[in-house]
Parts: sequence; structure tokens; C-alpha cells
Amino acid sequence: MTESEFILKDGFEYPNEGKVAWKAPSNIALVKYWGKKPNQIPANPSISFTLNACATTTSLAFQKLDKKSDTFSFDLFFEGKPKEDFTPKIITFFERIERYVPFLKGYHFIIETSNSFPHSSGIASSASGMAALALCLLSIEKLANPTLGEDYLKMKASFLARLGSGSACRSIEGDLIQWGAYEPISKSSDLYGIRYPFRVDSVFKNYHDTILLVHKGQKTVSSTVGHDLMHDHPFAQQRFQQAHHNLDKLKEVFEKGNLNEFIKIVESEALTLHAMMMTSLPNFVLMKPNTLEIINRIWAFRKKSKTHVCFTLDAGANVHVLYPESEKKEVFQFIQDELVAFCENGHYICDRIGHGAKQLKG
Ligand code: PMV
Repeated sequence: MTESEFILKDGFEYPNEGKVAWKAPSNIALVKYWGKKPNQIPANPSISFTLNACATTTSLAFQKLDKKSDTFSFDLFFEGKPKEDFTPKIITFFERIERYVPFLKGYHFIIETSNSFPHSSGIASSASGMAALALCLLSIEKLANPTLGEDYLKMKASFLARLGSGSACRSIEGDLIQWGAYEPISKSSDLYGIRYPFRVDSVFKNYHDTILLVHKGQKTVSSTVGHDLMHDHPFAQQRFQQAHHNLDKLKEVFEKGNLNEFIKIVESEALTLHAMMMTSLPNFVLMKPNTLEIINRIWAFRKKSKTHVCFTLDAGANVHVLYPESEKKEVFQFIQDELVAFCENGHYICDRIGHGAKQLKG
């Protein structure tokens, strides 16, 4: 699909009022997106596990205005309370998507949103939040045009979510989502995420992700700033190429269920992401001493136990501990015995690979 195919056609009757709601999950990248071109176009392709427990629930009540307004009209509630800090983000999002959602200025909206994970957990809610809001808007589009197919709606939701926060385009469906033009996948696109089309061994079906909350404060570098640092970065081109190579390698890994190779790629991607931040100007170290302690303990335990536990990182200090269902008991015991001590207030979240967003009763 091209951008222009997402522009709404005229001639549909929009409802006067109503309410729609969606729950959209977060996702964790295995091959990371870091660096972008204008219009939220990724500098390299990425792939992620969709999560299950970490999610945002958003409801959107809409009431037609007597006449189309010049500005966006909405009230926003986060966890039941008005939240003005989110207003600029929503306005920017609406501005970016207005071309594709022209009914935006024809309504007053009440947006009510909440996260399943604690607010100040250091877990970004932008992916799940933008995905849930995009899906709500698509539900209104569908009310006006009930003939729209599921595939189109998901693709457009991913397309819109990307304009809110790049990685949000991977939070519509499950369980393994690829985003960004990548030659071996003919349907891949810079504009939206798609379900990974190749064979995936069953070992990856029930993968666990225990998220260790090492540092719950605000990140010292936003991802917007981080992506910008990849312009003029001395290693940018090699990094973008590496992402393509890692996707190439993952094809066989997924197909054969080769966990040892999976670990090598996923951990290298996590450390490379942080290496990019550490070698940009200005530079950032987002890992904390406890992040490194956890990584070292995972390495030592893996060697000793012969399990396939591994880690990945977001642009922050928290550690995502990944392991297959068959090793759940042993690895979870290890997490409790050795790793929880390095979490802020002993906090962690038990998550696993999930199947995508769900529509709720409005
Ligand atoms: O979607 P953004 O702009 O917040 O960027 C997300 C970047 C990483 O989470 C670090 C990597 C990724 O691919 O999700």
C-alpha cells in the first residue's frame, strides 16, 4: 500500500456520537529501530515480539460538532484524571494524521486512557498508547464505512500509529512483527508493520519476557533525541546494514528454532543500541550499574545451567529477560533468587509474547 491509499474517500455518513475502545499491547524489539528519516520513516528495518501483559486501554467518546472546528477539540484523562502533559503529544499526532483522518476536526473527543503497567516504571507507553488511539480512530472510520476489511484496518492503524511513535506500528498485531523496507520480504514497508511472513518454530510461540525494573525514573534521553543522534553518527551506516544482516540471520534462526544463534543476535542488538548512544555526540549512558550486574549474572547462569535465557534492552536501564516456555521454571527461579535484588524496590513485570490488540466494548 502507498501513503495515498490511506487517505479517506468522501461520501460516507459519519455517526453523530458514540464511543469505541481498544486495548493495545507494548512490544519489544529484537532487531532495533534506531535512527529515522523525515515522516517517521525508519533508517533500518526492525522486528519485535508483541507483548501481552504490558498494554494501554483507551476509549474514545466522540460527539459531532455543529460545524468543523479550526482546532482539535478533545479532553484527555489518564487513569481517570485530566492529564495536560499529554496534550501536545496528541496534538502533534493529530496534525500528522489529519490528512488520513479528515473527520478529526468534526468531533469533540473524550479520550480516556490507562496503562496496565505502573506509570513511572520506565516502560514507555508511547507504542501501546498510540496503537490504541489509532485503532479507536479506525473503528470510527469503520462505523462510517462498514465494508472496510480487517486487513486494511490493521494496516492503516499501524500506519497511523507509526506517525505517533515509530515503534507503535508494531503494536497492532502479534506475535512477531516486522517493520521497514527489507528486500527479502516483498510485503515489508517503511509505512507500517506486518506479521512476519516466514516459518517460525514453535519454541518462539510462548516466549517469556520478564521485565526487570532497574530504574523507574524518566529516561534522560527521549527516543526522539536518540533517533536524531544517528544523523552524522560515525557508525550509522554500518549499524543500518547490520540490522539488515541480523534480519537475514534471524530467518534461519526462527525457522529452525536455533536458540543459541537467537541469543547472539538479540543480545548484540541490545548492546549495539546502547553502543550507538554511547558513541554519539552528545553521548548517553542509559544503563545503570544494576543493568550491567544483571547482564553479567544472566551470562554466568546461562553458562552454568545450559538454559537459553538471554536479555534485551530498550532505550533505558530496564532489562527484558527472554526465555522459552520449556525453561520457565528454572529461569524464573534464577530471576527471583539472583536478579530481583537489582530491581528498584524489587519490582518486575512478568510478560510473554502476545497476539495483538483487542477491541473492547465502547
Ligand atoms: O518508537 P520510538 O520512537 O520511541 O523508538 C523506539 C526505539 C527503541 O525502542 C529503542 C527500539 C525499537 O525498535 O523499539
